[in-house]
Amino acid sequence: MERKIHVVPVVLFLWVCTCVTASVTYDHKSLIINGKRRILISGSIHYPRSTPQMWPDLIQKAKDGGLDVIQTYVFWNGHEPSPGNYYFQDRYDLVRFVKLVQQAGLYVHLRIGPYVCAEWNFGGFPIWLKYVPGIEFRTDNGPFKAAMQKFTQKIVSLMKSEGLFQSQGGPIIMSQIENEYGPVEWEIGAPGRSYTRWAASMAVALDTGVPWVMCKQQDAPDPVIDTCNAFYCEGFTPNKNYKPKMWTENWTGWYTAFGGATPIRPAEDIAFSVARFIQNRGSFVNYYMYHGGTNFGRTAAGRFIATSYDYDAPLDEYGLPNEPKWTHLRDLHKAIKQCEPSLVAVDPTLTLIANNIEAHVYKTTTSCAAFLANYNTGSSAKVRFGNGVYDVPAWSISILPDCKTEVFNTAKVSALRFERKMTPVIGRFGWLSFNEVPESSGPNDRLTANSLLEQVYVTKDSSDYLWYMTDVNISPNEGFLRNGQSPVLTAMSAGHVLHVFINGQLSGTSYGGLDNPKLTFSDSVKLRAGNNKVSLLSVAVGLPNVGTHFEKWNAGVLGPVTLNGLNEGTRDLSKQKWSYKVGLKGESLSLHTESGSSSVDWVQGSLLAVKQPLTWYKTTFSAPAGNEPLALDMSTMGKGEIWINGQSIGRHWPGYKAGGNCGACNYAGTYTEKKCLTNCGQPSQRWYHVPRAWLRPGGNSLVVFEEWGGNPAGISLVKRT
Ligand code: GAL
Repeated sequence: MERKIHVVPVVLFLWVCTCVTASVTYDHKSLIINGKRRILISGSIHYPRSTPQMWPDLIQKAKDGGLDVIQTYVFWNGHEPSPGNYYFQDRYDLVRFVKLVQQAGLYVHLRIGPYVCAEWNFGGFPIWLKYVPGIEFRTDNGPFKAAMQKFTQKIVSLMKSEGLFQSQGGPIIMSQIENEYGPVEWEIGAPGRSYTRWAASMAVALDTGVPWVMCKQQDAPDPVIDTCNAFYCEGFTPNKNYKPKMWTENWTGWYTAFGGATPIRPAEDIAFSVARFIQNRGSFVNYYMYHGGTNFGRTAAGRFIATSYDYDAPLDEYGLPNEPKWTHLRDLHKAIKQCEPSLVAVDPTLTLIANNIEAHVYKTTTSCAAFLANYNTGSSAKVRFGNGVYDVPAWSISILPDCKTEVFNTAKVSALRFERKMTPVIGRFGWLSFNEVPESSGPNDRLTANSLLEQVYVTKDSSDYLWYMTDVNISPNEGFLRNGQSPVLTAMSAGHVLHVFINGQLSGTSYGGLDNPKLTFSDSVKLRAGNNKVSLLSVAVGLPNVGTHFEKWNAGVLGPVTLNGLNEGTRDLSKQKWSYKVGLKGESLSLHTESGSSSVDWVQGSLLAVKQPLTWYKTTFSAPAGNEPLALDMSTMGKGEIWINGQSIGRHWPGYKAGGNCGACNYAGTYTEKKCLTNCGQPSQRWYHVPRAWLRPGGNSLVVFEEWGGNPAGISLVKRT
């Protein structure tokens, strides 16, 4: 008996060792790739946020910037638009993307989710998932777990069939299951805890041969590694002392919302955050985002996420280096790489040199790397270390890969600051216009109810637009018809935008914002004796992507809808008969396509619609010579959507001006997404990326739907340099 007990551990040990050398494991220091501990620099590039034609260049620039790993989410709703119908083409060609990263000699961190957050429509969930009977998202719920497991398996087996895991010789060194589930679990308690355990074991059972992480998940069950997401992560410790300290999201800036200012994060501060993490035993840092790109089509999440997902990332929306950030971080990475042999070999020692001044030293018998840190926000310091004296600016870290020579300091930026330039290449287009007549209730309405219906329930997100239409009878005896005091229509909506049409005329518009998507329209309306057509065009700006049970959040006119100032006082319209129509006429006619656009009569010249709601515009143009990235300057337009050769480049909303305070920005001191804002008082987004790959040499069609009212004469095509 005793003998047997001794034999088993030896056999197991040998088995573990063979695995270690064939693939990816970890210890408390770092990931171990084919037997070697590694300090890894990673960057997020989300494949559907650029075109496949841009991918090789983005990946190459990431490599030139000193990255080892490309991190991406997997976007379920892009891959499974209806149950069991999978799509892996064009911008969703995940295999091609992963193989391009491999060809460039970089690794991949695949965040399967399949919940991804990411400012992506519905956090990546397909809309049909919401209507699976009995489903409840992201908790211990049978239908949800079945769907999640099926999609996760699908992605893992696709990657396996292409040999893409490192254990198969591929580039994927790590995967992720779920995303920042910890806070949700904390809120919902027991079912959340068992869901976490289930998710981890489901993932691990897929046997990818590479580690799984769960980010912001303190209780990530072994062998899953819990990781940090934040602007700073030096204080983070994984839940077991045999797991490496990894940072899956170091936010390089922040997203822009329509109505919000544009956040930027100083290069000095992000470099500081990375050096601070590495000097404190960190071994994996991912920039979220390294290239943010564009929310094409209707992929941007509610609420109010802008079409640009530039993120102030090291590569800008168009794929050009964002300077000085890109170069400064490249130089940081070089310095860290010089320290790598020491960093992976030993644990650091920490010496307090003075108040807020520290030395972190990784010393082996053959090598030594030091980090000299000054946490003071207001004063630089002369730091005596070894035989030298080093000048360490406020809020900065100097890196000494040989414990003597400073090769990099996070606050000494030598790269040049580049101004973004948008140069017009087509100053004016020749436009045609077509005006949609607002919908109104009629005898043949197919969908009616004696109540106000929730918007997403009706549209199933097939369109941003839902018409709520009703009739209002006004007696000739109404006092307001004589005293000139128009009644006030009040409509409460769960979001996001509401255009009110009375008898075919736009009467007013209201909209919510990022902090509160709800809105109330309340204004006097012109009514006449007899029947009046009240048509409310409710517009959703994407489905929410975050928040506990975000799938249950409503949109649209939920009421009450009232009319005040009648003889009877207030009339509640909420429970009377309402008709519904999903989408715009132009959408059902596919006016954004060449074939569809011939189905209506367009006008031009003096008849061209200007500053009118519900207007479609179209024009054609030739692709400008050269290969600089292109964009449309939409500053004279209100809100709507833009298509190039039938493909949507996203929602435009320059009519929504950026609120907030754009003060001076000092790099020193703790950064938050509210700290360094730009663009206040300007349109939150003025320029809209036109991918070169979507153009042909001549005869390109450009279609704009304007829901609010704008002047297309001001639209120009610009190139970015
Ligand atoms: C994180 C989330 C990301 C992204 C980010 C903000 O919490 O994991 O997916 O939404 O916030 O850009």
